[in-house]
Amino acid sequence: MEAFERLREQGKILRWGVSNFDVDDLEELNAPACATNQVLYNPEARGIEYDLLPWQAQQNMPLMAYCPIGQGGALLRDGTLQHIADKHCATPAQIALAWALRHPGVIAIPKAVSLDHLKQNADADKVRLDDEDLAQIDAAYPPPTRKQGLMMV
Ligand SMILES: NC(=O)c1ccc[n+]([C@@H]2O[C@H](COP(=O)([O-])OP(=O)(O)OC[C@H]3O[C@@H](n4cnc5c(N)ncnc54)[C@H](OP(=O)(O)O)[C@@H]3O)[C@@H](O)[C@H]2O)c1
Repeated sequence: MEAFERLREQGKILRWGVSNFDVDDLEELNAPACATNQVLYNPEARGIEYDLLPWQAQQNMPLMAYCPIGQGGALLRDGTLQHIADKHCATPAQIALAWALRHPGVIAIPKAVSLDHLKQNADADKVRLDDEDLAQIDAAYPPPTRKQGLMMV
C-alpha cells in the first residue's frame, strides 16, 4: 500500500485497488484511497451479496466483478439464462453481464478475444432485466442467506 501511494504521489498511477479482499480484509486495510476490490461475481458465485457488496456500496467503493460470465463455461449453457436471453433477443453472456451490472456500483470485466464476444459484451449494457427475470435467476441460483467464505478462482 505504501508503494502504491508512492507511485500515486509520483504521478505514475492515478488510482490503485485490491483483489479477493473480504469485508474483514478491507476493514483491516482501512484505506479510503483504495479505488476498488476485484472479486469473483456471477450467478454461480453470489455469496458477496450477503455482506461484501452492501459494505462496499456503503463505503462508495465500486466492486469489480471478475469471471462475470463464469469463464464461458456451464453458466452460458444454463437453461434459465438461455430462456431469459431469448426473451430479450440477447445471449446468455449478455444476461449474466446485465445481471452483474444491475447494481450501480458494480463493474464487470469479462475477458474476450473474439470480436463477436467483444461486441456482445459491450452491448450488454442495453439489456434491462425485469423483476420476473431476476426472480427466475434467484430460483436457479439462490441468493445467500448467511455469510459465506469468499469464493475465488
Ligand atoms: N483477481 C483475480 O483473482 C482474478 C481471477 C480470475 C480472473 N481474473 C480476471 O478476470 C478477467 C476476466 O475473467 P474471465 O472469466 O472473463 O476470463 P476467462 O477465464 O478467460 O473466460 C472468458 C471466456 O469466455 C469467453 N467469452 C467472452 N465473452 C463471451 C461471450 N459473449 N459469449 C461466450 N463466450 C464468451 C472467452 O472467449 P474468447 O476469449 O474466445 O472471446 C473466454 O473463453 C480477466 O481480466 C482476469 O485477469 C481475476
